Amino acid sequence: MNSNNQPIGIFDSGIGGTSIWSAIHQLLPNEKTIYLADSKNAPYGQKSKKEIIELSMKNTDFLLEMNCKLIVVACNTATTNAIQELRAKYNVPFIGIEPAIKPAVTHSKTQIIGILATQGTLNSELFNKTTEKYQDTKIIEQVGHGLVQLIENGEINSPEITKLLHSYLQPMIEANIDYLVLGCSHYPYLIPQIKKILPEHIQIIDSGEAVAKQTQNILREKVGFASVEEKQPIFYTNTNPKVLSEILENKYMVLQKEF
Ligand code: SIN
Repeated sequence: MNSNNQPIGIFDSGIGGTSIWSAIHQLLPNEKTIYLADSKNAPYGQKSKKEIIELSMKNTDFLLEMNCKLIVVACNTATTNAIQELRAKYNVPFIGIEPAIKPAVTHSKTQIIGILATQGTLNSELFNKTTEKYQDTKIIEQVGHGLVQLIENGEINSPEITKLLHSYLQPMIEANIDYLVLGCSHYPYLIPQIKKILPEHIQIIDSGEAVAKQTQNILREKVGFASVEEKQPIFYTNTNPKVLSEILENKYMVLQKEF
């Protein structure tokens, strides 16, 4: 495979997909990355499938104008509702992020697992087809109402988030889950709070590492790795850049742009 110095494009409904960007940047530090946070339209989780497809196409058009060689849909809601349509329309590889149900089901001893995700993800055909495969495991689904909006507002450590998490996780603890799947790319930022609520034996699974490995595989097999080191990522947002900058610990430049 020839080398390829075009950037990797990553988009999310907002700042949460930076958890996926971070896993990709760690595994593939030489690759140039462009991250698009569509915070103006967050959350996607309560939008119709049609709207999610339109927004995902708008984000893709932006990243393709930036000459991206591959697109990572770093949003569970956009993946489960729009990735088939994106793959049908565009001639570029797409990597999606789906809730990591399989590893949780495979390793669960109680055969009861919990999943915290948006309404859009839990209602999607793709998600329901995935869970149908695991009839022997009880999967407790919980919509994380309000969490994405609070994270987008920069209120990650707020008492409101703690209160919501308690109400979403307590029934799962009582039901004896031993794995909790985080089915939204925003939720890894809540892991410290979630850990304070869950008993120690309950494992938390998010998808960042798996997506990064899949990106590496596609570069190796189809697209090509960068041969020129380009460590400076570019971040774009269509709202005030403050919250995105803060979640990146003010280490990178964030550009505000209309899209
Ligand atoms: C949302 O925009 O509602 C959340 C993004 C996700 O599902 O990962």
